[in-house]
Amino acid sequence: MKIVLASDHGGFELKEEIKAHLIKKGYDVIDIGVKDTQSVDYPDYGKRAALMVAGQEADRGIVVCGTGIGISIAANKVKGIRCALCTNEYMARMSRMHNNANMLALGGRVVGRGLALDIVDAWLSAEFEGGRHEIRINKIMDIENSKDEEK
Ligand code: RB5
Repeated sequence: MKIVLASDHGGFELKEEIKAHLIKKGYDVIDIGVKDTQSVDYPDYGKRAALMVAGQEADRGIVVCGTGIGISIAANKVKGIRCALCTNEYMARMSRMHNNANMLALGGRVVGRGLALDIVDAWLSAEFEGGRHEIRINKIMDIENSKDEEK
């Protein structure tokens, strides 16, 4: 599985921990930055990672900012993206099983390394259940498509 990773300065350290963890587990990781803690704008990184997932250059995306809020909001503006901000393993599991989340957002200033890596593992190992949840995902996609029609 190919996973794109991105963060702003607030998520840099956690992003690096996640990268090392995923590489050790044998995942194919694409790190699109940042490379240090110099201040940047999280929408730039959330958008780039989301476009790679939407464009199928990556199977999944994991994005990190200080809280996880800004970068998840930015990623969710890209059509086809369901980016779930998770602070525990239950949310991570459910975001896959019920919401078919194709991106995960974490807050580098919110969760510690151990919890964050458990969240990542839970998110990567859970599968979408489909069925009634598929109907709901289709309704989300209808919202995206109706926005296009309004333009
Ligand atoms: C940067 O200071 C901070 O605002 C950002 O990392 C993030 O928390 C925004 O949602």
